[in-house]
Amino acid sequence: MPERHIARIGILTGGGDCPGLNAVLRAVTKAAMYRFEARVFGIEDGFLGLIENRVGELTSFHVSGILTRGGTILGTNNRANPKRYYSGKDAQGNPVFVDATKQCLATIREHQLDALVVIGGDGTVSCAAPLIELGVPVIGVPKTIDNDIYGTDITFGFTTAYTTATLSLDRLHSTAASHHRVMVCELMGRNAGWLTLHAGIASGSDVILIPEIACEIDHVCRFVESRMDRGRGFSIVACAEGAKPRGGDVVVARHDPRSHDPIRLGGIGHMVAHQIEERTGIETRTTVLGHVQRGGPPVAADRVLATQFGYHAINLLMSGRHNRMVVVRDGQITDIPILDAAHRQRLVPLDHPLIEVARSVRTCFGDR
Ligand code: F6P
Repeated sequence: MPERHIARIGILTGGGDCPGLNAVLRAVTKAAMYRFEARVFGIEDGFLGLIENRVGELTSFHVSGILTRGGTILGTNNRANPKRYYSGKDAQGNPVFVDATKQCLATIREHQLDALVVIGGDGTVSCAAPLIELGVPVIGVPKTIDNDIYGTDITFGFTTAYTTATLSLDRLHSTAASHHRVMVCELMGRNAGWLTLHAGIASGSDVILIPEIACEIDHVCRFVESRMDRGRGFSIVACAEGAKPRGGDVVVARHDPRSHDPIRLGGIGHMVAHQIEERTGIETRTTVLGHVQRGGPPVAADRVLATQFGYHAINLLMSGRHNRMVVVRDGQITDIPILDAAHRQRLVPLDHPLIEVARSVRTCFGDR
């Protein structure tokens, strides 16, 4: 088959936002224009904009000054899935989903898009799969604060998020010390503990609870009490939203049936705090950091990574290496088949060196 010439590129941001998305949009658009004389078209609100035909050209005017801005100028959506597009409710009030792949193809045709760059996580990659099967060239750029995308050692947005979480944990230290309290701080991350592990270590948290290591509240209580006995006077517990007790399950905050991942975690922080206070008698408070971890400008490292990702994405497209996802492996920017990342998560391995490092400075993971 003759090589398809790529002159018009559609780009979208899907799933939850994270710092650095705009930096990728800027890098792809500028490199496409200045290096390859190609044009880039922004698709609004992820796959929703592709289904609903909301597309506009990105020019240097649109992408100037956005490197440092959090969020995404295109908007995003963690519900719209072309294969399962929510079209309203039936007479009984049940949600009705339809296949909107045809609408996506119609939008692609109308704007004469030769390829798509999709910036997102496993959900976004899965949404792109039917289009790839129908012959649309796609390049994936992995993003998430959770750092849980299969195939890449790191995603942009993660470093910013754990820096934000670290600064918040730092602030909890002084108030915990003043009041001789236990402070439990619940962090995001879905089913992966990367965010909590990094922020926990960076802030010197005394207890780190992550989904990959099932905890026993009695171990946590004994640890907290032993710190009191040693005169420490307070404890900081960094608790991932996906942490769970041994033999128990995650705490679910809400179900969103329209979302690729319908479960929203949340509530474990309050549960852990309640149990600590009840069992030890030590006054305990909970802070849920929530979406603050996803907001704000990207830190310098994420700006660099996002720019590298955007540049690699455009090079893949232009060199005919389609249906790949940009990744970092051993410090190098490279790429893997995009569908390798669909429906998969990268969790913290139990033998990860950071767990050993944390244990060496007497961090409790609640498992012993
Ligand atoms: O995947 C990013 C993330 O922020 C998770 O850490 C969190 O569990 C989830 O998204 C929250 O989703 P929403 O923005 O729909 O509440």
